[in-house]
Amino acid sequence: MVEGSEKGGFPKNFHLVDDPLSRHKLAVLRDERTPTPEFRQAMKELALILVAAATRRMPTREVRINTPLVGTTVEAIAAPVCLVPVLRAGLGMLDGALALLPKATVGFMGLQRDEETAQPVEYYVNLPKDLPNYSVVVLDPMLATGGSLSATLTKLKEEGAGWVSCIHAVSAGPGVERVCAEHPDVHFYSAALDPELDENSFIVPGLGDAGDRLYGTL
Ligand code: PRP
Repeated sequence: MVEGSEKGGFPKNFHLVDDPLSRHKLAVLRDERTPTPEFRQAMKELALILVAAATRRMPTREVRINTPLVGTTVEAIAAPVCLVPVLRAGLGMLDGALALLPKATVGFMGLQRDEETAQPVEYYVNLPKDLPNYSVVVLDPMLATGGSLSATLTKLKEEGAGWVSCIHAVSAGPGVERVCAEHPDVHFYSAALDPELDENSFIVPGLGDAGDRLYGTL
């Protein structure tokens, strides 16, 4: 994994998860020939890799247990985890994340980019009332302008979220600059960092519209 602090040119709270397996999953996702069932499967598998990375800085606590041989001290995740998929495309990462974190609570952020202005519009929010008690992982395959993610993070912090990390299949330079600057306390894990956005704020080269490819609404 390339840490933001290790490579010039991107912020220290951005982390590129670019091992061969995640590159392979990403290659499947980027290919326009990949049909919806395979796209959905590759997104789920990539989410599993990314969510493992996103737990790297999660707070832990020491727990005293007995192995079959002796008493010993082990490390466990300190707080319950809340996964927050950003609807709709974030749902494509939920099953993969739950495969690794099966006890996680799931909150939902419904945001849609206005197709004219590319600004995020909130249409559904359902988060646990005791959000401050959780470590939160936000799931959204695409980080384009950063508008949707920044609005999500602002909302989570208004609801009292403390420790937050985010996972993305593909991020674009302008969005990364924005969210890392606006949320320096949050860590962002992405399988790719693409250079630019087109005139419709789509990531280039990207993978197209993740929500449409996941749900066949092309
Ligand atoms: C996409 C994507 C992100 C957002 C990224 O969702 O899944 O949530 O756009 O763009 P931004 O960084 O410029 O805000 P979209 O609005 O297309 O909704 P969908 O997931 O329902 O398809």
